[in-house]
Amino acid sequence: MRLKNKSALITGGTSGIGLATAKLFIAEGARVAVTGRDVAAFERVKAELGENALVLKGDVRSIEDMKAIAAEVKEKFGGLDVVFANAGRAFPSAVNDIDEDLYNEIMDINVKGVVFTLQAVLPDLREGSSVILNTSFVAQTGKHGISLTAAAKAAVRSLARSWSYEFLDRKIRFNAIAPGAMDTPLISKWGMSDEWVRDRKAEFAKAVPVGHMGKAEDIAYAALYLASDESSYVVGTELVVDGGASQL
Ligand SMILES: NC(=O)c1ccc[n+]([C@@H]2O[C@H](COP(=O)([O-])OP(=O)(O)OC[C@H]3O[C@@H](n4cnc5c(N)ncnc54)[C@H](OP(=O)(O)O)[C@@H]3O)[C@@H](O)[C@H]2O)c1
Repeated sequence: MRLKNKSALITGGTSGIGLATAKLFIAEGARVAVTGRDVAAFERVKAELGENALVLKGDVRSIEDMKAIAAEVKEKFGGLDVVFANAGRAFPSAVNDIDEDLYNEIMDINVKGVVFTLQAVLPDLREGSSVILNTSFVAQTGKHGISLTAAAKAAVRSLARSWSYEFLDRKIRFNAIAPGAMDTPLISKWGMSDEWVRDRKAEFAKAVPVGHMGKAEDIAYAALYLASDESSYVVGTELVVDGGASQL
């Protein structure tokens, strides 16, 4: 029970990494609010997470949505000890394919969403709380065809450093987790065929030194460490969980 009596908010907690993390946090004693946009998934998510979960609708790109979510979490939980700013998406973005819409889509979900999630919940963060930002292994090295997503995640990694400084007086810790190629629904949302998705996953697996893609739970365990008091001396860092992809 490493999160006993703690309250957490996980954006993008209705699928993949966010959902696995919500399950683990609840198993460790936390009450958890998760957010997503696709209400069709909400009943299933509520059933999976149980009575210690709130499932809230909101788009991280909307400042109004994030304010409304913060207000509801405040009303139900009273305050927050952990925030996992996890909602985000990766888009293939070879430089010639980038138009203004794609630029805005990538930056708004991955950067604007994190900034205004934090701003909305700031007044409700208790002293000693932990904020975890989800970055990506694609920002650790150069990667072909995904430059803008990598740049957005590099910006988020930078925020973890700067915000750590800004909130030292409130003893709020900021850290990032950089997942590697994780086997989640993320790439199935690119609108490609099942066969294409299967082939890409096989390619990703081959490119990882340990020989397979990661599981959402691999990131959930890293988030649990950063959320718990066991990491109280860990500030402003980025924990890379990528099967060695960017390190070996
Ligand atoms: N999977 C990987 O290989 C990988 C690698 C590196 C980093 N990451 C990062 O890990 C995070 C989670 O990814 P995942 O693999 O778990 O993907 P996922 O299974 O597609 O889950 C994404 C979650 O984010 C939510 N979401 C997406 N856009 C949103 C928006 N505009 N507003 C609010 N919620 C939104 C989705 O809910 P709705 O669909 O209802 O909006 C869903 O709950 C992302 O930040 C991603 O960049 C993933």
